[in-house]
Amino acid sequence: MSKRRLEGKVAIITGAASGIGEAAARLFAENGALVVIADIQDELGHQVVASIGPHKSCYKHCDVSDEKQVQAVVDYTIDKYNHLDILFSNAGICGPTGGLLDLDMGEFDNTMAINVRGAAIAMKHAARVMMASQIRGSIICTASIAACVGGVGPHAYTTSKHALVGLVRSAAGELGKHGIRVNCISPFGVATPLACSVTNVGPSELEANCCAVSNLKGLVLKPHHLAEAALFLASDESSFISGQNLSIDGGFTVVNNSPGFYQ
Ligand SMILES: NC(=O)c1ccc[n+]([C@@H]2O[C@H](COP(=O)([O-])OP(=O)(O)OC[C@H]3O[C@@H](n4cnc5c(N)ncnc54)[C@H](O)[C@@H]3O)[C@@H](O)[C@H]2O)c1
Repeated sequence: MSKRRLEGKVAIITGAASGIGEAAARLFAENGALVVIADIQDELGHQVVASIGPHKSCYKHCDVSDEKQVQAVVDYTIDKYNHLDILFSNAGICGPTGGLLDLDMGEFDNTMAINVRGAAIAMKHAARVMMASQIRGSIICTASIAACVGGVGPHAYTTSKHALVGLVRSAAGELGKHGIRVNCISPFGVATPLACSVTNVGPSELEANCCAVSNLKGLVLKPHHLAEAALFLASDESSFISGQNLSIDGGFTVVNNSPGFYQ
């Protein structure tokens, strides 16, 4: 049997009732972690716990934009499991679509409140308890290819994901002296409810559309690929990696395949 890479560790995963967070909750638990699933979709969250097993996971309702709710989840985790080793701050929304001239500023603020402020709150309270118990923890956020380039997501979403990478680097700068690592993963398109809702297509059409523009051919990106990257950053295998944005994009954000360049 292969080594379990998170044996004895405790993790909070936000946005773990669905998609990438759900896949990470399963993979972290399979690798020996005790996982707190924090989300606003209570029914789905309880279903994830039932399928992972209540001895390895639990569900807490948590809107990441509300500091009191995030603080309550972190304090509940300490009461239940004694310490916190890993925060996977993954909850996010796609926010408003459409052009700049039609941008609804209330929806823009709400996107920033969940995608950026929510991550900052989660980091703040995770770092608080990690520092108090001198845990060399790992904080991982889910950014996006829209954190690296414009034109692949709506305006508010793209803004929020760029800001999230800034937050990760800034927090890595402060928390390094406490032995706490902070990184993010940046996925290419993967067929989850979030991605399907922003593009208004079903999962198979979304995957076909992504494959058509993907740099790396012959593989469809799935939530478990992102979960595996998060597992690496959560585990001791990445013990000297901090402040990084790991793109899981088959090279999409660093390759320009436009015709005419030496072709
Ligand atoms: N799917 C993609 O193509 C893609 C690409 C790049 C980045 N991402 C990012 O991946 C992350 C996970 O999204 P996903 O694709 O798995 O979508 P998803 O819709 O399957 O999951 C998102 C989860 O976040 C939860 N959530 C939303 N608002 C919340 C809030 N205020 N508080 C707590 N939980 C909240 C939702 O209930 C849901 O369970 C997001 O941050 C998203 O921006 C996704």
